[in-house]
Amino acid sequence: MDNAIGVFDSGVGGLTVVRALMERLPFENIIYFGDTARVPYGVKSTETIAHYAREITEFLLNHQVKLLIVACNTMAAVAHQVITDLSPVPVLDVISAGAESAVARTRVKHVGVIGTPATINSNAYARAIHHHDSDIRVFSQSCPLFVPLVEEGWLDHEVTRLTAREYLKTVLCQDIDTLVLGCTHYPLLKPLIQSVAGESISLVDSAGAMAEATSSTLQRMKMKRVHETPPVYTYYVTDVPLRFQSIGERFLGRALANVRVVKW
Ligand code: DGL
Repeated sequence: MDNAIGVFDSGVGGLTVVRALMERLPFENIIYFGDTARVPYGVKSTETIAHYAREITEFLLNHQVKLLIVACNTMAAVAHQVITDLSPVPVLDVISAGAESAVARTRVKHVGVIGTPATINSNAYARAIHHHDSDIRVFSQSCPLFVPLVEEGWLDHEVTRLTAREYLKTVLCQDIDTLVLGCTHYPLLKPLIQSVAGESISLVDSAGAMAEATSSTLQRMKMKRVHETPPVYTYYVTDVPLRFQSIGERFLGRALANVRVVKW
């Protein structure tokens, strides 16, 4: 099926998921939506986030996507129901994918989760993890400063390291063996977080888990693109496409073209 996969996020961060998708499913067409005019979502109310999520879902459905991927952990945490209620096509989200990998990895059944305040306050990761195994203890910590630090490009900066030490203190003292990076931006801090957390802690990067889940869903529903010709990638943003492009190329690890601005 030639219809695109629709991926959406509050801004540029969801490109970490797009990158994993491009690697795992190199022939799939992708339409990405980044709400760069209204980012960050992670510090906004549930009602506001749900309202934004509804608008983006409608936009992508109007582009005949065959599958919706909620790359934004914050939207997945608080607006999952709103999105699935609207969508006639399957909806996958980063929280289920990340929770499943955390459950598969933990041996000591102590899992840490970090994310935006909205994601952590929603308790969505703990619920998703307990859905698979109610014996697992989940320790959560919101890390609101990580998003601006990543957007600034301070991926290996002393300020980011000190911030990470401070945030991770509370989860690291709980003898966790698995830490879920519950935000689109955090995979870019993976080396830094790994060095602060220590090599013995397994970091769950929801981008990779999401690409795996997408591949199996397409396979199962017989929706994989049959043509092995170069795919089309289109990026819609709501503001400042130049900044999206420069930061986006860092997230994507490759040149980014075909960026269009949407005026609501
Ligand atoms: N995309 C958001 C997330 O994954 C991070 C950025 C924001 O707060 O909007 O939670």
